[in-house]
Amino acid sequence: QKTIGILTSGGDAPGMNAAARAVVRAALKKGMRVIGIQRGYNGLIHGEMVEMNMRSVSDIIHRGGTMLYTARCVEFREWEGVLKAKKTCEETGIDGIVVIGGDGSFRGAADLSKAGVPCVGLPGTIDNDIACTEYTIGYDTAMNTAMEMVDKIRDTSQSHDRCSVVEVMGRRAGYIALNTGIACGATCILVPELEMKMEDVIAKIKEAQSLGKQNFIVLVAEGVGGSNEIAKQIEEATGIESRATVLGHVQRGGNPTVRDRVEASRMGYYAVELLEKGIGNRVVGLQKGEVVDFDIQEALSMKKEFPMDLYKIANEISF
Ligand code: F6P
Repeated sequence: QKTIGILTSGGDAPGMNAAARAVVRAALKKGMRVIGIQRGYNGLIHGEMVEMNMRSVSDIIHRGGTMLYTARCVEFREWEGVLKAKKTCEETGIDGIVVIGGDGSFRGAADLSKAGVPCVGLPGTIDNDIACTEYTIGYDTAMNTAMEMVDKIRDTSQSHDRCSVVEVMGRRAGYIALNTGIACGATCILVPELEMKMEDVIAKIKEAQSLGKQNFIVLVAEGVGGSNEIAKQIEEATGIESRATVLGHVQRGGNPTVRDRVEASRMGYYAVELLEKGIGNRVVGLQKGEVVDFDIQEALSMKKEFPMDLYKIANEISF
């Protein structure tokens, strides 16, 4: 009997539970044994594991967070840690692992595959910053949460004729900022992929102001940061009263949207099909809406293009 393990690693993302459910159920249905590994690679090194059955993943499809817990494991970055994890796999009979996480987690999955335990990665991060896939689990929920929050901020911004600077998550990526910015009619969107000068932000606000606009939203990605300072500079240069809000971890929680649940289920099922065939060292992703898979090293070396066309649209319709 084949035995597979499943773990979530790195920052959590809404929809990870839906992915875990799909993996557990698909594998059990195929007659495999499934072990839930807790707190990412830590659980594999220190033997924190639970046997999963059909009921272990009941009532989680709609919940944010991850019932398997998650962690960033420093020990696993060393080869010694990888070998300890391999030993756990030998002792428990685990002959394949599904790893749900981001790029860092995939590096671990590649190492463990190299050590002889086939691993398949599923993209789980709110940032959508994984190059081999156009979509990551958690991204849609995070954007919808951010949109709802900005809508609320907009109400009070409108009442007071203010400029609201809102910082959303995305340490290295501006996808949440860009899409939330479009969805909320932001006057300016600042992302780490593109350099934008404060004088350009101020000029855009002034231009919109000259066209009669009285309240403004400026979306800032975490990777750009400094939202308080940005608000201060806007106020000084334009005379428009400005406030900054950092949305933070609210974006990492909450019930996953339809899209996150469905894509998590599709990709989770696909990962099990790979492991069933004994195929490891792969990352699953979505390309043009289809589920596909890549060699992990190849996936990690890919670069994601920032959607300039979308950025242009955002800029031209926000006055
Ligand atoms: O990768 C997801 C993410 O939410 C980033 O946008 C953010 O920079 C980071 O995680 C925050 O990580 P932590 O929860 O460890 O502070």
